[in-house]
Amino acid sequence: MLVKKIQELKKKRNAIFLVHNYQPGEIQEIADHLGDSLGLSRIASQSDADVIVFCGVRFMAETASILCPDKTVLMPDINAECPMAEMITVDALRALKKEHPEAVVLSYVNTSAEVKAESDICCTSGNAINVVNSLKDAKEIIFVPDKYLAHYVSTKTDKKIIFWNGYCPSHVKILPEHVLRQKKAHPEAKVIVHPECMQSVIQLADEAFSTAGMCKYAKESDASEIIVGTEVGMLYRLRKDNPQKKFYPASEQAVCPNMKLTTLEKVLWSLEDMKHEIKVPEDIRVRAKRAVDKMVSL
Ligand code: 13P
Ligand code: SF4
Repeated sequence: MLVKKIQELKKKRNAIFLVHNYQPGEIQEIADHLGDSLGLSRIASQSDADVIVFCGVRFMAETASILCPDKTVLMPDINAECPMAEMITVDALRALKKEHPEAVVLSYVNTSAEVKAESDICCTSGNAINVVNSLKDAKEIIFVPDKYLAHYVSTKTDKKIIFWNGYCPSHVKILPEHVLRQKKAHPEAKVIVHPECMQSVIQLADEAFSTAGMCKYAKESDASEIIVGTEVGMLYRLRKDNPQKKFYPASEQAVCPNMKLTTLEKVLWSLEDMKHEIKVPEDIRVRAKRAVDKMVSL
């Protein structure tokens, strides 16, 4: 009944639902596109819908608004923030730039529009290594805000990377002992983790991937059992896409509470009231778009 109402209103508003892989199962079920930050940004920029309902967290909806200023971008719950994105402010980034005036500024897409506007280029976990390798002339790279992703990238490049002390509070809950316990319980299983995990966790993994990379690996690899080190919402999609395989969370504690704020009721209300609109002020949007466009064009 609720889903039927949502679908009717979606049609009337010419809306699409962009849903991140960590969203609750019932929200994943109504997605037009389910994906990682990079994939959803690309779809936002190509869509001809009038309204984008972004079921994720604020930086994702902001990125859609940066790329598509003529569309109405809605978040069903305005409180769905990413705490990692709040760990770097514009003032702090400006101070860091002053300390390293020659450095190229690379900001993870998990940042505010204001921070993107202060950056030369953005990246996601899915393309961070490609983006760093594309910065051929850069002697130093300021990478904000995730120190674990920065460290992971630094192991794959010769470039000097200047870290910021940010991290994801959900991914740091995954501890090496959790992975070791699951490996002991499932000795045949492969281990895949998100590069937001601590390096001591990444070291124990067979592979590190963005959430879209995890979906691809789960489909294409021969492994029939996989231990997954990321936010637990990911398991819903992996199990649905691969019913013949077994997936185990590295840690049940890796929950992003902000990702769980979206409900079907809130999706319906957002379409009824056209709330909560995410709009980036034009001067910031134009500067932020330069950094996002550079990433999307790679
Ligand atoms: P992905 O881009 O891999 O989907 O990750 C986004 C995120 O917020 C991870 O915590
Ligand atoms: Fe932010 Fe971590 Fe939640 Fe991803 S899982 S949205 S990085 S707090």
